[in-house]
Formats: sequence, structure tokens, C-alpha cells
Amino acid sequence: MRIALGSDHAGYSLKKCIKEFLEGTSFSVGDFGAQNAEDPYDYPNAAFSVGEKVARGDFDLGILICGTGIGMVMAANKIPGVRAALAYDEDTARFARRHNNANILGMGGRKTDCNSGIKIVKEWLYSEFEGGRHLARTEKIKAFENSHSRCAVRKESPRLVTFDHPLIQHKLGMIRDKNTSVKVFRELVQEIAGLMVFETTRNLPLEPVEVETPITKTTAFSLSGKKVAIIPILRAGLGMVDGILQLIPNAKVGHIGLYRDPETLEPVEYYCKLPGDIGERDIIIVDPMLATGGSASAAIDLVKRRGGMKISLLCLIAAPEGVSKVHEKHPDVDIFAAAIDSHLNDHGYIVPGLGDAGDRLFGTR
Ligand code: RB5
Repeated sequence: MRIALGSDHAGYSLKKCIKEFLEGTSFSVGDFGAQNAEDPYDYPNAAFSVGEKVARGDFDLGILICGTGIGMVMAANKIPGVRAALAYDEDTARFARRHNNANILGMGGRKTDCNSGIKIVKEWLYSEFEGGRHLARTEKIKAFENSHSRCAVRKESPRLVTFDHPLIQHKLGMIRDKNTSVKVFRELVQEIAGLMVFETTRNLPLEPVEVETPITKTTAFSLSGKKVAIIPILRAGLGMVDGILQLIPNAKVGHIGLYRDPETLEPVEYYCKLPGDIGERDIIIVDPMLATGGSASAAIDLVKRRGGMKISLLCLIAAPEGVSKVHEKHPDVDIFAAAIDSHLNDHGYIVPGLGDAGDRLFGTR
């Protein structure tokens, strides 16, 4: 288990002592400052650094120490996915874990000495979350957090991003409806794919360019040569391509066709045509439904074998089973999904899902 430590100047000495204790255990430790007790080091610096690492899953847990611990907890709790709790004794440390599943422990370097600090840390580390009614409550916090953030990065899986934008959720509700016509379904799938890509491309690098407006010369911005490839998994993935191309018209489009061998149930490739320079492109594999994860994993395998390196998977609805399978085989791949549904039924359909996306797109039911 990996633990991220952080303090300000006032928490430095207690952090040092907790660090020495943890280094004598099987936990692995990352130290994100402060470096000493003399130079002022603002607590939000350490809180954001440790909080983000825990929220992303780079570290399992975090410990943050300032003079009182109060500022640390306030700052860390601004980060979606963080549940930071302040503990001054073993009792509060135990309940911070058992009832609140705190993934960050806040302590006060001016309130707690080294020995008591170690006892508090031990109590917190070795207590277990009780789940049940307490889980329902932490889930309420998570639901609130998700409904107030632009997009939610689920901590359970650092490479899984879901979208809570009202337009996406509204349109998703419409395509789930079995009475939605083929025409409307097709239009909505394109629209949702476009809206999702608008968000997933937010980190594409820009470079300044000189342009002349009808009024004057100015410096504007242009995408700095990032090349994108969209790769639909046939056939349902085709339904998402145009929506994405509307936003990234210069993207190249590859195609992957897979069918399921009726005997082995394994996906078998029947078609694969990718852009020649696939190794240099940001690759978005698209498939509306991530169900078992078999086809998606096979498609990613195929793209990697052809030299693809920076790969993400964009789907409208994912089942937890599919997410786990893809991340088990391809932990380097980011998955973007408009929604994570409950589970797969005995026929491999996502529940509640929307039925067979290919049939609904092409009217072949
Ligand atoms: C620093 O003097 C102190 O304000 C800080 O360590 C902390 O107690 C904030 O909550």
C-alpha cells in the first residue's frame, strides 16, 4: 500500500516522525514536502499535491499535517474523490476509517506529539471501513460531488472518466428509451459522441499563431500539430464517428472489425485498416457499449500491435465488468464513458443499458 505524506512548516516535525515510522513497515511512502520546519510552506501546496495523488489513485492513502490539521483538511476536501478527516486521538482516527472511509488523515503538528501521532496513524491504517449504512452515506457525498463537478474522475479507477454534463445525461436518457426511433437514436449517438470529445480533447496543446482580422493583426491559437485517429469498432462504433469528425475534421479514421467465435466466444479480427502513422497519433477507439470488455480489449491489442501507443476508449455506456477487463489487460488506457451502468445480464447485455446499439443504429432488430 502506498501512502503520500505532506505537511507545511508547522507539521514538518510530526511528518518526519510519521515518515520514519512508516518506513519501518511494509507501506511505501512518498513525501511531498515541506522540506524543513523553518521556511514557511503554505499548507494548500501540500494538501493539493497529496490530495490529487490520492484522488488519481497514484497513492492509496494520504496523511497531511499542518499546525492544527484544519487547513489541510479544508484544502484537501476541495478535490473530488478525497475524503479527508482530522483526528486528534485514536478514537477519531478509528471512526474516520470505520464510518467515513477517510482516504486522507489530517493531523495537527502543534496538537499531537510523535508517539501519539504514530498511535493515531496505526489506528487509522489498521481499522476497516464498515460499509453498509456508512457506504450509503459516503456514496451520497460522492453523488453530490459528481453533480457539482464538470466531469467526474472516479477514484476507484484513476483512468476512468464519466460525464455528468446535463446535455449528455439528457440525451443518454433519450437513447435508453426503447421507443426512440432509429433516426433520432442515430442523431443522438453522434451528438453525445461529439459532446464527449469536446471534453476529452481539453488538454490538446495549443500554439500561438499570428492572424490578421479585418481590424488588425493579433495573436490567436492553433492546435499544435497533434494528430488524432478515431477508430470505431464495427459496426456500432460507426455511429459515433461523424459526431467526432464534426469537431476534429482532420482526424484520420481507422476501422476494426471483430466477431465473436461461437465456440470459444473469443473476439476474432475480420477487418483492420488503420492510418499508416498510427504510432504518432492520439488514438480514440470508439464503441457505444463497453459490455464484457472482450472486443474493446482485443481492439486495443490490435492497435498496439500495429504501433499505436496513446490510446483511449470512448463509449456511451460501460458495465463495471467491461471497465475491469479493459483495465486489467490495458492499465495504460483511459476509458471515457457517459455512464457506468449496474451490471451485465446472463446474455451479456448491459443493465439497464439501451439494448443492442448496433441494431438500434441500423434498424436491424
Ligand atoms: C501555520 O502557522 C498554521 O496556520 C497552519 O499550519 C495550520 O494550522 C492551518 O490550518
